[in-house]
Amino acid sequence: MGDACTLRIALVTGANKGIGLEICRQLLEKGITVVLTARDETRGKTAVRKLRDGGAKDVVFHQLDVADPASIASLKEFIQHQFQKLDILVNNAGVSGIELEAEALSGFNKKENHLESLVPVMIQQHEKAKECININFYGTKRMCEAFIPLLQLSQSPRIVNLTSVYGKLKVIPSETIKRELRDADNLTDGRLDNIISSFLDDFRTNNVLKDTWPTDLSAYKFSKVAVSAYTRILARKHEKMCINCVHPGYVITDITWNTGKLTVEEGAKGPVMLALLPDGGPSGQFYFETTLSSFE
Ligand SMILES: NC(=O)c1ccc[n+]([C@@H]2O[C@H](COP(=O)([O-])OP(=O)(O)OC[C@H]3O[C@@H](n4cnc5c(N)ncnc54)[C@H](OP(=O)(O)O)[C@@H]3O)[C@@H](O)[C@H]2O)c1
Repeated sequence: MGDACTLRIALVTGANKGIGLEICRQLLEKGITVVLTARDETRGKTAVRKLRDGGAKDVVFHQLDVADPASIASLKEFIQHQFQKLDILVNNAGVSGIELEAEALSGFNKKENHLESLVPVMIQQHEKAKECININFYGTKRMCEAFIPLLQLSQSPRIVNLTSVYGKLKVIPSETIKRELRDADNLTDGRLDNIISSFLDDFRTNNVLKDTWPTDLSAYKFSKVAVSAYTRILARKHEKMCINCVHPGYVITDITWNTGKLTVEEGAKGPVMLALLPDGGPSGQFYFETTLSSFE
């Protein structure tokens, strides 16, 4: 690896498989030095080996569980010591927040089915919902808070948050909540935290009513709506950075039980495009794959 000052360094979360691994591969192809992270060391190291077997050199592994502040702190120390700065943060790690009824997948034909067809066999529980919000939303937030000081040392800092088409405001039935989340100029971290708490309270007390919250894939959808809203708050606070969120497409990975329509190569294109935006590029925006879209 070259001199740390001249290298462009990217950190990708949840990169042992799926879209995250492919984002690493495509960034490496563009000459970026990649810190591939995964919560499981064996899975992460195996992924790095795969990339090296494919010819990549400038890739290193570090363990990272975005739900664990100590793990984030240890990664931060590593990057600070090794590279003294960070150029690109891709918040990719995510979970679905649900389980499927055990027998649901037998005889299930992933090619002929859409994720929505699994709704009747999805099991939503409070613990899983809490975990989903903690990983998808608070994981993203913890990573941004920890790494913004290192991104501020970059000439061209970029943050890419993986959201979803389910992270658009249209999935929230309540007009009051939608109005607050839409008001990007006045929305604050504190207010967003309050909305999240009331969602989790309603979930715990079985009060996920159809006129307030999404009733299927509830925690996943709501966690991604929160990621989208948080992206706007951050972009407003850090005007010198390009901070955007992206729906990668409906991709064939474990999180969709492989029902997706796009390959990981196609799914990684939007996130990689946003990671490599030229200076003065858009910020605080929602992208649908590689196209500028709306939060609605
Ligand atoms: N696939 C799609 O159609 C689609 C559509 C919209 C948005 N997205 C978003 O795209 C992102 C990537 O998803 P994917 O499709 O590639 O799914 P995937 O193959 O299931 O990959 C998810 C990755 O996140 C990691 N992860 C989960 N919890 C973590 C934690 N606490 N700390 C660190 N890593 C963690 C997983 O690690 P383990 O292997 O250890 O579990 C895995 O590497 C997610 O944010 C997802 O919501 C995907």
